[in-house]
Amino acid sequence: MTKGKITVLGLGAMGSAITDRLRESGYATTVWNRTAAKTEPHVEAGSTAADTVAGAVTAGDIIFVVLLDHASVHERLEPVAAELEGKVVVNLTTTTPNEARTTAAWAAEHGIAYLDGAIMAVPDMIGRPGSRLLYSGDENAYAIAESVLKTLGTAEFEGADPGVAALKDMALLSAMELMFAGLIQAAAMMRTVGVSAADTAEETTAWLGAMLPSLHGLAAIVDGGGYRTGGQSVDFTRAAAASLITASREQGISADLLEPQKKLLDELAAIGHGADDWPRIIELLTIE
Ligand SMILES: NC(=O)c1ccc[n+]([C@@H]2O[C@H](COP(=O)([O-])OP(=O)(O)OC[C@H]3O[C@@H](n4cnc5c(N)ncnc54)[C@H](OP(=O)(O)O)[C@@H]3O)[C@@H](O)[C@H]2O)c1
Repeated sequence: MTKGKITVLGLGAMGSAITDRLRESGYATTVWNRTAAKTEPHVEAGSTAADTVAGAVTAGDIIFVVLLDHASVHERLEPVAAELEGKVVVNLTTTTPNEARTTAAWAAEHGIAYLDGAIMAVPDMIGRPGSRLLYSGDENAYAIAESVLKTLGTAEFEGADPGVAALKDMALLSAMELMFAGLIQAAAMMRTVGVSAADTAEETTAWLGAMLPSLHGLAAIVDGGGYRTGGQSVDFTRAAAASLITASREQGISADLLEPQKKLLDELAAIGHGADDWPRIIELLTIE
């Protein structure tokens, strides 16, 4: 017995994993993909393929959109605004916060209940422990879709601002990218003496694991806002950063990945904050 009618637009790696999970959870799924051949394994597994986006969205009560980017979402949804009226659209395509707000405003104009989602998981994790999805936008749409959303992973409603799920996604990805860039820097330095990236990754994993709890202390300094806790100062951290840059160059490795933080620390010192806690650099990140 099926539980409800769901449409999935987009059968790339993520859309396919989501469709598989929804079908396994007992939902009747209709799928559409630009390259029609990708619907075939889903049809064999029990989904229905639609030839057109209009046909696909007409078949479902809740429409999942898992396309490449904001542009592809609008290219495909705008021509079927009339068919989407009164339905719940859950857009899981990665977008920026303002792109999410733009799509939400467009949806509101057309009487579409819109939820913007961010997937903190890779396709293999969908429906398994550790899969976490964030949603923001129309709270009523979230209430309607919640039981379906929970089949994909932990579902968290982040509030009525449709951009917040995307913002949190981008913030967490920013932290991840800076960390991953750190491994590349370390590997570049260590391979100058013949150490493999695999060995450096092993050591970096252990080192960062030991350091991760200190994130909470840094956050407490930022939230406190006084930047005089007696923790690691701007001047101390500048000296440490200068050593990292020099060591890198001594090995013939560019310090391009390391220099931005040193530049911010230098700016703080130049305006008299050398003795403050180094996380004060957050105050320089706001663009006036
Ligand atoms: N994969 C992940 O680990 C992951 C994690 C979190 C979030 N996401 C997000 O999930 C979304 C989908 O990712 P994915 O991994 O499934 O990507 P993917 O495997 O590259 O699939 C992209 C999908 O978008 C479709 N597409 C691209 N341009 C289109 C257009 N102009 N009109 C219609 N369809 C178009 C593709 O159709 P064709 O098959 O015809 O090319 C395909 O179905 C992205 O926004 C991604 O950032 C992915």
